[in-house]
Amino acid sequence: MPSKEAVIPVKDLSASQAEKELARLSDELHRANTAYHQDDAPIMSDAAYDALMRRNLLIERSFPKLKRKDSPSDLVGAPPSPKFEKVTHAQAMLSLDNAFNDEDVFDFSTRIRKFLGLSDDDPVSFTAEPKIDGASLSLRYEQGKLKTAATRGNGQVGENVTANALTIKGIPTEISGAPAIVEVRGEVYMSHADFSDLNQRLTDEATAKGKTPEVFANPRNAAAGSLRQLDPAITAERPLQFFAYAWGELSEEISDTQIGAVKAFKKWGFAINPLMERFDKIEDLLGHYQRIDADRSSLGYDIDGVVYKVDRLDYQERLGFVSRAPRWAIAHKFAAEKATTVLDDIDIQVGRTGALTPVARLVPVTVGGVVVSNATLHNADEIERKDVRIGDTVIIQRAGDVIPQIVEVLADKRKKGARRYKFPESCPVCGSHAVNEINEKTGKEDAVRRCTGGLICGAQALERMKHFVSRGGFDIDGLGTKQIESFFEQGLIKQPADIFTLKQRQEAGEIDLYTYKLDKKGAPVLKGGKRQPTNEKSIHNLFDAIEARRSVSLNRFINALGMRHIGETNARLFASAYGRFEIFREAALAAANEDAAAREEMLAIDGVGELVAEGVIEFFAEEHNAEAVDNLLQQVTPQEMLAPTADSVVASKTVVFTGKLERMSRDEAKAKAQTLGAKVAGSVSAKTDILVAGPGAGSKLKKAQELGIQTLTEDEWLALITS
Ligand code: IVH
Repeated sequence: MPSKEAVIPVKDLSASQAEKELARLSDELHRANTAYHQDDAPIMSDAAYDALMRRNLLIERSFPKLKRKDSPSDLVGAPPSPKFEKVTHAQAMLSLDNAFNDEDVFDFSTRIRKFLGLSDDDPVSFTAEPKIDGASLSLRYEQGKLKTAATRGNGQVGENVTANALTIKGIPTEISGAPAIVEVRGEVYMSHADFSDLNQRLTDEATAKGKTPEVFANPRNAAAGSLRQLDPAITAERPLQFFAYAWGELSEEISDTQIGAVKAFKKWGFAINPLMERFDKIEDLLGHYQRIDADRSSLGYDIDGVVYKVDRLDYQERLGFVSRAPRWAIAHKFAAEKATTVLDDIDIQVGRTGALTPVARLVPVTVGGVVVSNATLHNADEIERKDVRIGDTVIIQRAGDVIPQIVEVLADKRKKGARRYKFPESCPVCGSHAVNEINEKTGKEDAVRRCTGGLICGAQALERMKHFVSRGGFDIDGLGTKQIESFFEQGLIKQPADIFTLKQRQEAGEIDLYTYKLDKKGAPVLKGGKRQPTNEKSIHNLFDAIEARRSVSLNRFINALGMRHIGETNARLFASAYGRFEIFREAALAAANEDAAAREEMLAIDGVGELVAEGVIEFFAEEHNAEAVDNLLQQVTPQEMLAPTADSVVASKTVVFTGKLERMSRDEAKAKAQTLGAKVAGSVSAKTDILVAGPGAGSKLKKAQELGIQTLTEDEWLALITS
């Protein structure tokens, strides 16, 4: 849940406050990500998401040692849909960091100069081009022929949409003059005019068939939805366009600058954005941003910012990537769109971990072409802080197509009848007591109020079931959010184990999952005295998909349980640390029974902090959870997880750099070591494996020598890692 905006400036945070906040941000952002990508039910606006992501990054920059293993900065988009064949990208398709104001752009440039060891006078050129609001696509050409077109997916693995890409006019099926292997990357988008024509056509077609029209909310959804059609004939009817702006694997260099590479794309027959330009000064980049922003509405397609990229490719290479995004590029976002409306009412939604989230019900209003009727209010503090009252006139803001937020109440428009909202003391779904937990460390109340009903609460039980089958969990084909809701409402499944007994219960005639054909009068169609099912095939497919998950990887199993603070990343940590589910569970139970050694052992797992450990311990200590897990284990076998093998000479070694480095900046050296799987520490201790000492090394070198730690010069280090 997005909680109240952080009050303490990052520079004033103490390390323990920072650690606590990083844990909270990680939890919120992971949940927002799952809600957006897997459940298609966003819980916060893009702007709120960006703001939290930014705060997280800022704290991580100030306290690099506190960066979590499950840091949200490492998140990239959604995992691929199971419907398409998967394609592993030869080179990951990454995301971009954001800048929200001029200062962020200057900081970006300063960071780059520092990393490259350049002075303020050394010239660095940047390209600036619009950030197209569409769907990214990677096109692989071999010997000049289009072989594969893949969506971004989770960045590593995307969906194979080649048949669809072949129908897009702006994508050449053959190119000449290019290296033997080229991956051209860019954005598929739909123009405003084509978008409204398409929606009109969809409306007309549905109306003619007597159906309710289903239209796209915005051009981006239309582009992404059209690209991801299972039937390429439908994609062919959709007026999609493509701008090329980046690349993946190349068998040969095509240029030594960004702008040169993009010009090569143009020669090969791709459309490139006419507004791309190169500048030598940050002030000029900002000027271009202003011009593009001013012309935005006349472009005829949606853009949501301007992307700046270091022009020299040798610099790009050295700068490399930080987990999810390149260091050499940044997206300077435009301000979010706003509108004024009236707050009709406030409802409460109960989430998977019992959090009560107030949702604003609004008088529908159009913001940037999309009708908005709900906004998130985050928590009780937020309502209080913004002094939001039912009946108030409010300014809402949306960016992208997720739930918008209320930015401000127009107090001077407040009518007499406006009333304060009383946040419920009990869960509106199950009636259990709802509490603001006390944070053990700070002794302060948590901003989020939670239902204490656990699995007794219908809302929590349902949300947990949804999480259970989500992509990072059991990921059962044909069993998405809607089916789970429907089965749950019908009482067919109450807990995860019930999914695995559906087939047996259907065959025993205890339940009936079929829907039946009806004649024009609504009476059942009979054949040989028997009703005729309409969904026989899909039910059998569902049973097969369920059977296929009777054995599941340990990390999926752990993630699927939906413990607090445990997402995919933490689940993976536990899976590799304990190897077997029974061992993990015993350790958690021991820790719950105040076994200090078990607790210490859990906290010793790299990346597991107090909050995460508490999430696990609490989960297993809860009787209903223990029972649900036992039932599930009757049906499903989590696989054992084997220890990973290291693949570089310095993998998992702890390295310390000291003294002056002459070949590269400290940041660059650190980044290189981390890419090779080494841990970089700031001080020498018994845990240090290698000390890299440049000229002027002092106390650290002395300490390393005393401790008998391997000490290398910068050149020896470089020889070691390039050997
Ligand atoms: S460059 C390695 N340039 O924005 C970086 N991306 O938020 C490659 N996007 O995944 C991306 N317009 O889908 C780049 N002119 C542009 C872009 C652009 C839109 C999208 C792209 C990317 C996302 C990141």
